[in-house]
Formats: sequence, C-alpha cells, structure tokens
Amino acid sequence: MSRPPHTHKVALITGACGGLGRSIAENFLLEGANVVVCDINDKLIADFKEKVSSAYPECTLVLKADVTDDAALDDIFEQAEKRFGGVDFVVNNAGVMDRFDPAGSMERSLWDRVIAINLTAPAMVTQRAVNMMLKHGTKGSIVNISSVAGVRGFANGAAYTASKHGLLGLTKNTGAFYKSKGIRCNAIMAGELALPLLKNMSRKVLTSGVLPCAGGMQTNVANQYLTDQGPNFNMEGYGVHSQAFPMEHLVMVETEKIAKFVSYLCSDAANIINGATLTADGGWTAN
Ligand SMILES: NC(=O)c1ccc[n+]([C@@H]2O[C@H](COP(=O)([O-])OP(=O)(O)OC[C@H]3O[C@@H](n4cnc5c(N)ncnc54)[C@H](O)[C@@H]3O)[C@@H](O)[C@H]2O)c1
Repeated sequence: MSRPPHTHKVALITGACGGLGRSIAENFLLEGANVVVCDINDKLIADFKEKVSSAYPECTLVLKADVTDDAALDDIFEQAEKRFGGVDFVVNNAGVMDRFDPAGSMERSLWDRVIAINLTAPAMVTQRAVNMMLKHGTKGSIVNISSVAGVRGFANGAAYTASKHGLLGLTKNTGAFYKSKGIRCNAIMAGELALPLLKNMSRKVLTSGVLPCAGGMQTNVANQYLTDQGPNFNMEGYGVHSQAFPMEHLVMVETEKIAKFVSYLCSDAANIINGATLTADGGWTAN
C-alpha cells in the first residue's frame, strides 16, 4: 500500500480552527502531514481540539495566536521547529471581511484591522517561513488565500479588496525571489465558499441579496457585522457588489476542493507552479 502523499511533511495553517482553514488542515492530516494550526477564537480552538486533534494527537499542534502579533508569530515558528523540526508548507489563510465600504465611507480603524490581518500578517508569516525553510534547506511551498476580491473591483469594500490585491503582489514577489532557493509561493483567488452558513441556506435566501444573521457561526461572512437585525453592511456598497456578482450566477466552492488544490500546490507535481495567482471560483469571475 502506498503511503499518504505528504507523510513526514509539516504544514502550518493560520486561522485554521474554523472555515476554510480547518478543511485545509484536515486534508493535510488525511494526506499524512503533521499540522500546526493557529487561531484567535477560543471556541473554535476548543472545537478543533475536540474533533480533529483528538483523532491525530501525534500530528497536530494547536496554538492560540493573533497573527498580527509579531511575538506570537515567533512563538508559532519556534514551537513548530521544536515539535516537528520546521515547516514545509505554510498557508496564509486567516482573514477578515470588511463592511462593503468604499473609500469615502470606510473607517480608518477598520482599514487598519483588515490590512493588518489580511496583508501585513501574511507578509510577516512569509518572512519567518522563508527564513526557517532556508535555515533547514527545505524546498518549501507557501500558499496565500486571496479571493475574487483580489481580481475584481467591488467584490467587497475598499479595505478587503486592497488587502486581497496586495496579497497577490506579495505572492509574486516571494515566488520571484525565492524560486532559485527552491521555495515556491502561489495564491488562490477563492470564490464564494460553501461554508456551513451558506451550505445550509436555501437558494431563495441566497438570491434575496440579503444575508441573514448567522448567529455565532464565526465565519468570514458571519463575523461581527452580523447582528440580530441582519448584516451591518454598507448597503449601497453591498448593492454594487450584488450587481457585479449576481447571486443567481453564484457558484459555491466547497472548502474541501480548495483544500485539495492547496495540497496539490504543495506537492512536487506542482513544482512548475510558482508566483501564480489562480482563480478557484467555478468561473464566477470568468465573464
Ligand atoms: N468565505 C468566503 O466565501 C471566502 C471567499 C474567498 C476568500 N476567502 C478567504 O478565505 C480565508 C478563510 O476565510 P473563511 O471564510 O474560512 O473565514 P472564517 O472566519 O471561517 O475563518 C477565518 C479564521 O481566521 C481566524 N482569525 C481571524 N482573525 C485572526 C487573527 N488575527 N489571528 C489568528 N486567527 C484569526 C478566525 O478565528 C477564523 O477561524 C480568508 O482569508 C478569506 O478572506 C473567503
């Protein structure tokens, strides 16, 4: 019997106790890798430990960390090195959404937060990742989770859009510089993810243009902007988004498929793919 493809590899995934990150972590475990996951959310961390780590106690390291905190990032890499000897794959997944605000109405504090989590943190994680890979002579792979907002003008508000476009620049720059050192870096521009919140919604609700409150799902969509009364979005901005991305053309992207895509990008079979920014949105942005 052949052994799983990522046996003895170590994958570090940020924001991995919920949503897409969790699917990516679970898939790496199924494929034989050890995983280091971090998250900021206590409830999700406890749930991950109970449901995932318990099945793979030798292969998982779960850390509470805020990816915007440099000391926390140092600690993640130190612990990964101590426990598993370094990292082979790094997935910058942690991300937060904005409120669909264009530049004119966005708040400085929200801009700073979105850029810090979605762009500056991946840069700081990448800095530590490439240095650890170079130290150990690892032919590593970094995958950045961007979005259709990395390629289109109004998939979200100004902050999220700028952060996900910026992530593509970080990806190309990293791929270009480190290719001669055997480290690759690619980005996935994911479409609308079929997370539990959306999976369980009827088509009627989805096409109504107004997302209901997700009460505690803690997903990217269901974060702090959802109140008991509904989403606290800039509704004019949300309207522009809805025109650009009509719900009736929505293609839901299963997180398991993105997880397989991440795994492929980390495999030797994908060693010709570097500095690439790849859409995985079922064709949502093709027209
Ligand atoms: N949901 C979508 O439809 C969609 C579409 C395209 C791209 N994306 C991107 O995919 C990635 C995952 O999104 P998701 O939908 O699974 O969201 P999610 O909210 O379910 O997952 C994000 C995770 O990151 C964690 N996190 C947030 N801030 C953090 C911080 N400062 N430090 C550490 N962890 C933190 C959260 O606790 C959560 O577990 C994000 O980068 C998002 O922008 C999502």
